[in-house]
Amino acid sequence: MSSLNVAVIGLGAIGREHCDIYSTLRDVTLTAVVDPAAASEDVSRWPDAKLKSSLDEVLADDSIEAISLCTPDHVHFDDAKKIIEAGRHLLLEKPIAAVPDQAEKLVAIAESSRVVAMPGHTLRFEPRYHHARQVVSGSELGQIVHGYLRRNNKVSVAARAAGRVSVGYFLGIHDIDALQWIASANVVDVQARETRIRDASGRQAAAIMATLGLESGALIQLEAAWALPENNPTDLDARFRLVGTSGELSIDSYDSGIHVTSDHFALPMPAGAPMYGRAQGALREELASFVQCCLDGGPLPITMREAAQAVMVVDAIEESIRSGRLIPVRQCQ
Ligand SMILES: NC(=O)c1ccc[n+]([C@@H]2O[C@H](COP(=O)([O-])OP(=O)(O)OC[C@H]3O[C@@H](n4cnc5c(N)ncnc54)[C@H](O)[C@@H]3O)[C@@H](O)[C@H]2O)c1
Repeated sequence: MSSLNVAVIGLGAIGREHCDIYSTLRDVTLTAVVDPAAASEDVSRWPDAKLKSSLDEVLADDSIEAISLCTPDHVHFDDAKKIIEAGRHLLLEKPIAAVPDQAEKLVAIAESSRVVAMPGHTLRFEPRYHHARQVVSGSELGQIVHGYLRRNNKVSVAARAAGRVSVGYFLGIHDIDALQWIASANVVDVQARETRIRDASGRQAAAIMATLGLESGALIQLEAAWALPENNPTDLDARFRLVGTSGELSIDSYDSGIHVTSDHFALPMPAGAPMYGRAQGALREELASFVQCCLDGGPLPITMREAAQAVMVVDAIEESIRSGRLIPVRQCQ
């Protein structure tokens, strides 16, 4: 089987995870990394990877076939466009763009190209969410009536984001994409509010609440927040619940199957933790799927169009927060 030469752009929290995973995937060589804030000693743990000065230097190397773009949201559009137009396969971290117009343009660019352009929405590769989609599409729940989505992080995550991104774009978008995928239905309108209490950066709201209207008429409540105390028993408190006319489904991140009580109480989340020195879990599945699409072709597990539709919903949430009105969600052209 052939192998794929990959570069990772952006070595922050998620970019480093991409590097760790690519370094252990078969059929992949992590050959280059880029981050203006990194020094060569920072990248020595990935022995095949050379620290390059810019994306342009990576694109000038014809041997690099695929790129993970893990930079902050506001630079996604320009660099993603450049990568696709240079004929390289792209794994683009969520949100694919920071504003709807850019998301829609990326859809057009990706759909008219021959490269693999895959958004990084990790819940698509989480077995419980995958099973939820099978349950809902198998009609076991009947027609969805209402639901509840929660994604809470600790205060330190807001401090790390430092006001550069809203909690809707950073956290809420995961569940919005999962909802539209699992329900096979788009959100058509939203009514939202945010807390007057600021997050740890002082520049964004600590929490948002939004009521999402699905095209079927169902209503789903979304809660996205980064206000959990640092001594919370787990880093993430996520719920996903749908109630239908003939059944109910719920996912609870607290229910990981292991509780630890010592001098403090912890609910570890072993599903994404390294095992035998090797990263595993949903992000590994996501990157392995991307590599497989690059090497063997086949349908993408998630399209840029679907990811753009999640951007449209977050944008409508932010417009509703500003205006206090019910906002129709723009549908991606
Ligand atoms: N899929 C997930 O579960 C998940 C989790 C976290 C973050 N993300 C997404 O990944 C992206 C990065 O988030 P993060 O939390 O890692 O951010 P971060 O702030 O920790 O890291 C961003 C890194 O990019 C570097 N950078 C900035 N501009 C650059 C450029 N032009 N070229 C190269 N490097 C550049 C910065 O120096 C920094 O090291 C965001 O879009 C975020 O939404 C996804």
